[in-house]
Amino acid sequence: MSGVLIAAMPGETTPARRLAALLDAPSVDIEVHRFPDRESSVRAGRAQATTILYCSLNDPNAKLIELALAASALRDLGARRLVLVAPYLCYMRQDAAFQPGEAVSQRVVGRFLAERFDRIVTIEPHLHRARTLAEVFPGAETTSLSAAPLLAEIIRRDGAEDRAIVVGPDAESRWWTEAVAAAIGAPFHILRKARRDDRQVSIETGEGAAPGGRTAYLIDDVASTGNTLATAAKLLFENGAKRVEAVVAHALSSDADVKRLRAAGIARLRSTDSVAHVTNAIEVAPLLAAALCVEAP
Ligand code: R5P
Repeated sequence: MSGVLIAAMPGETTPARRLAALLDAPSVDIEVHRFPDRESSVRAGRAQATTILYCSLNDPNAKLIELALAASALRDLGARRLVLVAPYLCYMRQDAAFQPGEAVSQRVVGRFLAERFDRIVTIEPHLHRARTLAEVFPGAETTSLSAAPLLAEIIRRDGAEDRAIVVGPDAESRWWTEAVAAAIGAPFHILRKARRDDRQVSIETGEGAAPGGRTAYLIDDVASTGNTLATAAKLLFENGAKRVEAVVAHALSSDADVKRLRAAGIARLRSTDSVAHVTNAIEVAPLLAAALCVEAP
């Protein structure tokens, strides 16, 4: 891909290089120095007219400021078109003031990024009330990629589709649950979830095929504390599932949360490498490369 440079924020060198290889584009690292007072100095070595900045936005608070500084440095070096590749987008879940006086974080972060980037490319953003990414990033081009083909591919590798059921833990998961079930030719079930607080959810059986005697593949966009998956797994076992696995687009869970998932009987948690995590099982680079309009091998 001529005339394009990929710049990787700290911690993103490996996936950024993977993407660069598929795009046949050079890649460089953005240098970040953190001062004792925890301010950051950010340095971009070079830019091209079109520069792709690679930064997955898990653990976002410090990253957002350094990303803004990097975008500014790249503009100063001559980047006319800045593309943000953020395989995981932060702050998408707070899309309304759920309590009076709460900031609508999705709107604030959406504007913050839209002011700095010409195009934003991401995978499975958690959109609920906003129906499209274009509503979140006013004025920017947006590309929202589905992780469903990657999640289906992870399951297909097990070769157990004939004994599988794909399960979504809540109504919001319907889209990717149905897409994964269709891709592997398995039945699906959408559970009903009510969230009580950050770490507690209650889940009831919902709509679709029964999990009895099958391997249930729980599918979700995000595993954060993992409590959604753990609570869903308990219900699936109570309803006769033989085995429960979980496959998610973005794994954000701590090591302790991953251990708790195993204790809840989930045989395996697997994820895409949208966020670097011990459960990564499939690379997102080919999906991103195809969206950036280049043939992925
Ligand atoms: C929320 O609706 C999302 O789709 C996930 O189900 C949720 O973010 C998972 O969070 P946790 O792992 O903390 O239950």
